[in-house]
Amino acid sequence: MNARDQIAPAFWKSVKHLAETKEAPFLVVDLQTIQQKYLELVKGFDYASIYYAVKANPAAEVVGLLASLGANFDIASIYELDRVLQFDVEPHRISYGNTIKKRKDIAYFYERGIRLFATDSEADLRNIAEFAPGSRVYIRILTEGAEGADWPLSRKFGCSPEMAIELAVLARDLGLQPYGVSFHVGSQQREIDTWDGAIAKVKVVFERLFTEHGIALKMINMGGGFPAQYLQKNNDISVYLEEISRFLTEDFPEEVPEVILEPGRSLVGDSGVMVSEVVLISRKSSTALERWVYTDVGKFNGLIETLDESIKYQVLTDKAGETEEVVIAGPTCDSMDIMYENHKYALPLSLDIGDKLYWMSTGAYTSSYCAVEFNGFPPLRTYFI
Ligand SMILES: Cc1ncc(COP(=O)(O)O)c(C=O)c1O
Repeated sequence: MNARDQIAPAFWKSVKHLAETKEAPFLVVDLQTIQQKYLELVKGFDYASIYYAVKANPAAEVVGLLASLGANFDIASIYELDRVLQFDVEPHRISYGNTIKKRKDIAYFYERGIRLFATDSEADLRNIAEFAPGSRVYIRILTEGAEGADWPLSRKFGCSPEMAIELAVLARDLGLQPYGVSFHVGSQQREIDTWDGAIAKVKVVFERLFTEHGIALKMINMGGGFPAQYLQKNNDISVYLEEISRFLTEDFPEEVPEVILEPGRSLVGDSGVMVSEVVLISRKSSTALERWVYTDVGKFNGLIETLDESIKYQVLTDKAGETEEVVIAGPTCDSMDIMYENHKYALPLSLDIGDKLYWMSTGAYTSSYCAVEFNGFPPLRTYFI
């Protein structure tokens, strides 16, 4: 579906008003969309606990809204933790989901009452045992299916199921509580069957730990991976929920363990529209068939996920009429700062310098990814509606 058809008319009106009255570039975030997405997920997955992956959009307005709705939080750093604690979120609603952490940061979380930690290595596990004694740990396993994900996450994180078993045993021996298994099938995962394969691996870890070591795990953390609405079509979130619930009941027919989800992109992605201005339009020769459209957002101020053209946003303009293929590039003096060259975007021939571009579904992994001063450009401003 076209992202423009999906967003509320009142929100679009606000975007257009800001586009006319404020200096570009900026991001506009519709908090109502985030609320709606969150409630949809809570309803569709009524047996799961939702831990918002703060990294997707750590803005205080977003965190505050989700805190007030009762969400839990998946946290990557002490800085995200401080942000969430500003909203009086109780420690039992927080998980330290980053497997890469300093010893002093583990202690920081522990001092603030957090008792749920992700891990995928012996060294990290030993640190957790020392600086967060007695805590619950869940072990992240590697998953396949990176091909279906526009932004794969698996290779850097997770361990083999075999190692997960060893770590759970070690956790018990170190006085920790081996609590569950986690995975992340990759962000913007379009292949729902990837969850099937991952859940099957989790089942093996659960069974072997119970039969071989007498350890009864209690929880599956299925990470994020649910999609936002970009150029490529994907299934509706309800299809994901239905299919994943089926996989879970097939693999755990007697009783589905406690389930945690850590959505980021799917909760906040569609809430954002980035407004940019066309800085320059040129051709590389008098006979060149394509135009280069340079705009005032790029890889270094909000659009880092266009790296390798991984995430393909829908880009709209106010202009209409005959279109032509374009290369779209950012404003900095860095030749990496080209968003789309291989994938052929077509924009109206009437598009002119000074016109606005609207980057749809840019609420996730944009504003927080901005460089602070590259080429002197400040980070992207955000307006919340
Ligand atoms: C541990 C963890 N959980 C959840 C997420 C959120 O994933 P998504 O934005 O695909 O929902 C991420 C993303 O990097 C992550 O690292």
